Amino acid sequence: MKSGTLLGAAGWLSTTDAFTQNLTNNDIDKLVDANGNYIQQALPYNENFLEPYMDTETMHLHYSFHHGGAVKGANKDLQMIKKSLSENNLETVDFWTKKLSYHFSSHILHSIFWTNLTNKRTEPKGDLQKRIEKNFGSYDKLKFLIAETSKNVDGNGWGIVAYQPYSDSLTVLQCENHEKLTQWGAIPLLVIDVWEHAYYLKYKNKRNDFVDALFNILNWDNAAQRLDTALKLTK
Ligand SMILES: [Fe+2]
Repeated sequence: MKSGTLLGAAGWLSTTDAFTQNLTNNDIDKLVDANGNYIQQALPYNENFLEPYMDTETMHLHYSFHHGGAVKGANKDLQMIKKSLSENNLETVDFWTKKLSYHFSSHILHSIFWTNLTNKRTEPKGDLQKRIEKNFGSYDKLKFLIAETSKNVDGNGWGIVAYQPYSDSLTVLQCENHEKLTQWGAIPLLVIDVWEHAYYLKYKNKRNDFVDALFNILNWDNAAQRLDTALKLTK
């Protein structure tokens, strides 16, 4: 196992180590093994690392069961599609294709979400900051936009800041469930999970308070690294 994926006995690991290594070694998050089966990377910190803004019990349930469940689901969906093909029977393949879109999108967004959080306040710098100013006017304007977008998702979903290579610009998406209302090609840089499982234990029904609190722990350095990766992948 790579050293960056191990959690230190001291209680926490440098927040970016595991996922920085994952990104650096693979150009993009490594979410499958050599056989193409979906795998869940280790959290880059202990489950209490984001206290008090994200409580330990929520982190545990969210990572282990909600994200973990999506990985299991995506593997099953993939198997069922392969089975349908091997049996030349595509009667149910549309069901499994939809399920795979749902589960794999959940896996992707959750994997990014953990890296987008740290235990201190950060702000965009460098190329990311310049692009934010060009596309939204200022960081304050983007904060306002992504916060309102996230708070106002109908039902469960995500607020997403993405790089859109077709227009070479940053864009904000309001995603429902895990897979709806995207723009083709958009690469997520910073994602905000507003499913009830992300906040209900601590914030109850107050989604707005949860979204506002997240700004204390958003890891814009990770978003900047993701922008670098996206530009390299799409140039
Ligand atoms: Fe979630």
